[in-house]
Amino acid sequence: MTLSDLNRLLTGRHSCRAFRPDPVPQDQIEQILTSASRVPSWCNAQPWHVVVTSGVETDRFRAAMQTEAATGAPAPDLPFPTSYSGPYQERRRECGWSLYEAVGVERGDRAGSARQMMENFSLFGAPHCAILSSPAELGPYGAMDCGGFITAFSLAAQALGVATIPQAALATYSPFLRRYFEIPDDRIVLCAISFGYADKDHPANSFRTDRADLSQIVNWVG
Ligand SMILES: Cc1cc2nc3c(=O)[nH]c(=O)nc-3n(C[C@H](O)[C@H](O)[C@H](O)COP(=O)(O)O)c2cc1C
Repeated sequence: MTLSDLNRLLTGRHSCRAFRPDPVPQDQIEQILTSASRVPSWCNAQPWHVVVTSGVETDRFRAAMQTEAATGAPAPDLPFPTSYSGPYQERRRECGWSLYEAVGVERGDRAGSARQMMENFSLFGAPHCAILSSPAELGPYGAMDCGGFITAFSLAAQALGVATIPQAALATYSPFLRRYFEIPDDRIVLCAISFGYADKDHPANSFRTDRADLSQIVNWVG
């Protein structure tokens, strides 16, 4: 195993926003979860827990999620960012514009961008969805550990040719998710990861995001 092997996984992965319906074999889903569980966590608490949907249960959830997004009130367990400014705002805009350009939504077309946003709630057509939660008592550190789990999940999936997308959008409706999947009240719902095989020809999968130069993210001391 070399750094270039790892970099091949890191650069090959992207957030997939159009899936084919074919299911991922159960043993491969288990391999992805087992690999993702190898990430470090504070005190090795391993705060992550996932509900994974497959088959008709994904479709039943998709339909219920779409109804909730159309009629329910936003109530995320983990407060969403209050604002994005400076480079964070720029990167956020750039990423949004790349997506909208790819799917043919013009700048300023609010109805078109809202329509594309609603695709989140159809899970972008994915055959599987993992709902990720963490114990409320672990607070932001539990969420931090779960961030590592999301990354490792995505990379392990990539190694098996399985595409993923983390989705905070679904956590907009955390109380609904907790009710729907009987997630205990002492856990907070962080996000979902939809996954399956990429529809490689779909325009939503035709762009890639870039990354800031080291000079923008590091201060060298010594
Ligand atoms: C915690 C988390 C939540 C995210 N939530 C969403 C989401 O709700 N909808 C979406 O389209 N993308 C979502 N993304 C994907 C990001 O937009 C994406 O990772 C970022 O633009 C970088 O692009 P890449 O993943 O293709 O490298 C999320 C990513 C993370 C890590």
